[in-house]
Amino acid sequence: MVRDKGCYGAGWKFTVAQVVLENVYKSFSGRKGEKAIDKTEKFGQEVELLALPEALHTTSAQSPEQAVLRRINLTVKDGEFMVLVGPSGCGKSTLLRSIAGLEELTGGNIWVGDRLVNDLPPKERDIAMVFQNYALYPHMTVYDNIAFGLRRMSGGETTENSLPLWAENLLVGMTRSLPKKLKYLTEREKAIDAQVRVVAELLQIEPLLDRLPKQLSGGQRQRVALGRAIARNPQVFLMDEPLSNLDAKLRSETRAQIVKLQRQLGTTTIYVTHDQTEAMTMGDRIAVMNRGQIQQLAHPLELYNRPANRFVAEFIGSPPMNFLPVQFQAPLLITHPQSQFRLTLPDIWQRALQNYDRRPLILGIRPEHLNLSLPAPKNLQVRVDLVEALGNETVISVHLRETSAPSTFQVRIAPDRPVLLGEELWLSIAPDKIHLFDAQTEMAIWPR
Ligand SMILES: Nc1ncnc2c1ncn2[C@@H]1O[C@H](COP(=O)(O)OP(=O)(O)O)[C@@H](O)[C@H]1O
Ligand SMILES: [Mg+2]
Repeated sequence: MVRDKGCYGAGWKFTVAQVVLENVYKSFSGRKGEKAIDKTEKFGQEVELLALPEALHTTSAQSPEQAVLRRINLTVKDGEFMVLVGPSGCGKSTLLRSIAGLEELTGGNIWVGDRLVNDLPPKERDIAMVFQNYALYPHMTVYDNIAFGLRRMSGGETTENSLPLWAENLLVGMTRSLPKKLKYLTEREKAIDAQVRVVAELLQIEPLLDRLPKQLSGGQRQRVALGRAIARNPQVFLMDEPLSNLDAKLRSETRAQIVKLQRQLGTTTIYVTHDQTEAMTMGDRIAVMNRGQIQQLAHPLELYNRPANRFVAEFIGSPPMNFLPVQFQAPLLITHPQSQFRLTLPDIWQRALQNYDRRPLILGIRPEHLNLSLPAPKNLQVRVDLVEALGNETVISVHLRETSAPSTFQVRIAPDRPVLLGEELWLSIAPDKIHLFDAQTEMAIWPR
């Protein structure tokens, strides 16, 4: 689909497209790294490959033919900001590289807009990718770094009043060493110039255009790298952990900038990160990945409130959710056999749990849903192992008393409540914030 984007002024057409992944499988055969490196060398430049992705440096042992991506089905809507989040090694980069065309699929289909791109080389997929280790061309100015991709783009519409190519080349050559204002610019260079300036304005890097990369800070370099990707006006942006090299403050600033920029441009974006905070704050929707599979696809708060399984429950939220193995007795009682803990669940659970009588369950409760309380069987008796006073809140680590295999919990408490190491406390569980998981499958059970 082609849309005219007002903010870019006349002549700036922004193509936006949905990306559909159908049953995508990927396994690496042969020696680790072989294929990826070949492809990167062959096609790297065509997708504005700014650096070798970290996948090529990973050293973890891997048996051949192991499926790195399994049954990936995902529709990224037109103009959507989709975040792929998951622990290191779960296949995020491989998926992104497959979409870019740097990896061949073992099975399945990838659609960009209405085109099946499986067999298209990266260049023809109309996708721009930004990596963690952005490498700008060190000998080129910021301006030329941004213009580079545009100059390399094939075609170049000749307008009616342009000179023959040989004459243009002659003029360009003769005036090359003159100051910028006296240089002869072809129609194509003029168009490129306009584009570079729009992008520079958008990213607020206009004052930097004449600098070399070495004269920039990390954050500025990353913005230039983004500028290169944006300038090409692709149908889709792919970003692979683009902020990992920045310090915490800059990371959160740049995070906000990227989100704002994406809203302005409306370009379909797939953003990869291992950082759940980044995912929660940036994504329209988030796909949580683990071991090559999508565990859950949902809006940020839905992931937090209704995690589909224990993995998602633990991965989303910081500090992570606490878990306690418990025994269930119909209609509503849960107990922890190694301690005195006995809790009657709210009535809403009765139907969902009717097949779980005398079976084990996993109780999940977030650190913010435990409260300091009084001795009672429905509360947990704990001892304090660690106190982290953060100013606006205090996070304490505790373990359950009188158990052989200690269960540990993290609890968020108000900063004005003094807590001592080794202190004994009783914690109550917010009854409407309880999560339960099947002990075997680790799938969430929902009140019905
Ligand atoms: N070229 C390759 N050859 C073989 N295995 C690879 C290759 N690239 C990545 N892998 C493996 O695939 C898995 C997923 O890697 P990757 O996609 O880089 O994960 P992530 O980006 O989520 O950290 C890892 O186990 C990694 O070692
Ligand atoms: Mg990666």
